[in-house]
Amino acid sequence: MKTRLTEILGTEYPMIQGGMAWVADAYLAAAVSNGGALGLIAAGSMNGELLRKEIQLCRTLTDKPFGVNIMLMNPCAEELAKVVIEEKVRVVTTGAGSPGKFVPAWKEAGIRVIPVVASTGLARRMESLGVDAVVAEGCEAGGHIGELTTMVLVPQVVDAVSIPVIAAGGIGDGRGIAAASMLGASGVQIGTRFLLAEECTIHQNYKDLVIKTRDIDSRVTGRSGGHPVRCIKNPLVLELLELEKKGSTFEEMEAITVGSLRKAVKDGNVKEGSFMAGQIAGLVSKIQPAKDIISEMFTEYEALMREGGSI
Ligand SMILES: Cc1cc2nc3c(=O)[nH]c(=O)nc-3n(C[C@H](O)[C@H](O)[C@H](O)COP(=O)(O)O)c2cc1C
Repeated sequence: MKTRLTEILGTEYPMIQGGMAWVADAYLAAAVSNGGALGLIAAGSMNGELLRKEIQLCRTLTDKPFGVNIMLMNPCAEELAKVVIEEKVRVVTTGAGSPGKFVPAWKEAGIRVIPVVASTGLARRMESLGVDAVVAEGCEAGGHIGELTTMVLVPQVVDAVSIPVIAAGGIGDGRGIAAASMLGASGVQIGTRFLLAEECTIHQNYKDLVIKTRDIDSRVTGRSGGHPVRCIKNPLVLELLELEKKGSTFEEMEAITVGSLRKAVKDGNVKEGSFMAGQIAGLVSKIQPAKDIISEMFTEYEALMREGGSI
């Protein structure tokens, strides 16, 4: 496929593997890039030195383009912003706010900048900064989320900006890509389905939990503090929801959440871990090589586009 977005990403398919803190390492990013989409190394939990090592490792695993995701609330964001320039990373995506102060230096270095947005207002602000595209992420997604669903967010962002819009949140197969395309998106970003990539190095318990998860099994915690996060329901999540109901303080909640994503990803601790995943987890149940996930999704999409819709 050759589209405006594949030109920006340097990929065969208009698809990005979402940045996923602790999850999206060099192995997953390289496998996705080798499969024809854009793999991302998530720097969410990294400092500059760690990120540099992951980028260098990724270069030994693929000669295809890949990118880096920087969570702007990471205290090392300044350092990470410099590393992506020094390491000549092709694409940077950002989460949790506006990357405004970093954009001029990134653009100067020839980096394609793609912020994640959850509203038309932020999308417009990003376009005025000169970014290359935006990811419009609906609240079906795993991890940190906004208020709007993908179905309502994507067409409104498409109408609000003239740069390419990449749809994220709740896309798990070719039907999801076709729907995103009908809403006006130029491509898709996938997180939850890549948790089940063979090359994804998360603990087997995490993969098993995603496989078992039904449509109604995710919950959103952190709404009271203004930082909502979607995870699979487990004892930690239920305890957090109880604490929120009681009006507990941020500190009380932080006491049980600190390190919880690491506990899920590395230790497979099903009670105390934070197993971030989206609502589409109910639809994904197969562990497959990343390249098969990508080609299967686009084969389904192309067949649907040939057949037309069913309404
Ligand atoms: C385990 C997990 C961790 C995530 N961490 C991040 C992150 O560090 N930075 C970010 O911008 N988005 C993060 N996300 C969101 C993904 O990049 C992606 O936009 C989202 O998963 C897409 O929706 P889906 O899960 O329905 O496919 C995370 C998602 C998951 C499932």
